[in-house]
Amino acid sequence: MQSWFPFIPESASTISSEVDALYLYISGVTVFFTLLICGVVTFFVIRYRRRNPFEIPRPIEGSHKLETLWSVIPLLITMTFFVWGAKLYFQMYRPAQNAIEVYVVGKQWMWKFQHATGQREINELHVPVGRKVKLIMTTEDVIHDFYVPAFRTKLDVVPGKYTTEWFEATKPGRYHLFCAEYCGMNHSGMRGFVEVMEPTAYENWLSGNAGQSSPAAAGRGLYESLGCVSCHGANAEGGRGPALIGVYGSKVVLSGGQSVTADEGYIRESVLNPQAKIVTGFGPIMPSFQGQVSEEQLLQVVAYIKSLSTAKPETATSKPLPAAASSATPKAGK
Ligand code: CUA
Repeated sequence: MQSWFPFIPESASTISSEVDALYLYISGVTVFFTLLICGVVTFFVIRYRRRNPFEIPRPIEGSHKLETLWSVIPLLITMTFFVWGAKLYFQMYRPAQNAIEVYVVGKQWMWKFQHATGQREINELHVPVGRKVKLIMTTEDVIHDFYVPAFRTKLDVVPGKYTTEWFEATKPGRYHLFCAEYCGMNHSGMRGFVEVMEPTAYENWLSGNAGQSSPAAAGRGLYESLGCVSCHGANAEGGRGPALIGVYGSKVVLSGGQSVTADEGYIRESVLNPQAKIVTGFGPIMPSFQGQVSEEQLLQVVAYIKSLSTAKPETATSKPLPAAASSATPKAGK
């Protein structure tokens, strides 16, 4: 199960070998220059040592050519780190399309997972091999950090917002999962496993743990019990508040004229701090639900609103989509 080098964890995701290659390259360049510089220093110390106590060295005038050279060459070398690193970074942190979505809530000191189909887990996450898995993560208390060394994925989980990361496991197995941000007394105990399964085994696991209501269904219940229906309509078709059908993933035009993409973070903010972004054509009448919903409930509400978009992509009477495309640039108003 070990990799070729004792300090490198097992490589089990689509990006892990690329991360390793970059790491190896940076380490290689670093070792090469360390040896080169130490070698040259040692050589010069011996070669140009003081040979008699009255020796006065020849003054050095400096060389523009040499100085330019030792500025430009390291610049070019470090730019290769930057370009390669940036490319990989964007590859890793651009949200994945067509991914299985898992909601993650960190809490002192455990990881809580909920699958889109309802299954809940603690400190253990079952995923299929060869499929992209997108994690939508938040925390109930302090900052944690979701880290699976074998996948080379690591991202902070921050109070008050959602962070997302994705991975695609390449071989079945059981991989360590850690919290990588000091979060209090039992930080070191905040760990678990990601269980990567063959697709059929995964399907079996899912059906064996079925029967729990999906986050979207639970969110639908909250939508009713919290009274969202009174403004957004019994079926989220809109009323005094904007329609929520088809909102997720769309461009929403705000009263200030800017437009934002309605992602998970936008929906979250609109529930907790409705005045932050008012949809054009609507008044600032929505109360805040800060303190009334837990992080898990909030994720369920988000899941419900997302489900309205996947089920019916094109509906909505008051949704000003064409206007958004023509009147506003894709620049978000954040
Ligand atoms: Cu959670 Cu460290």
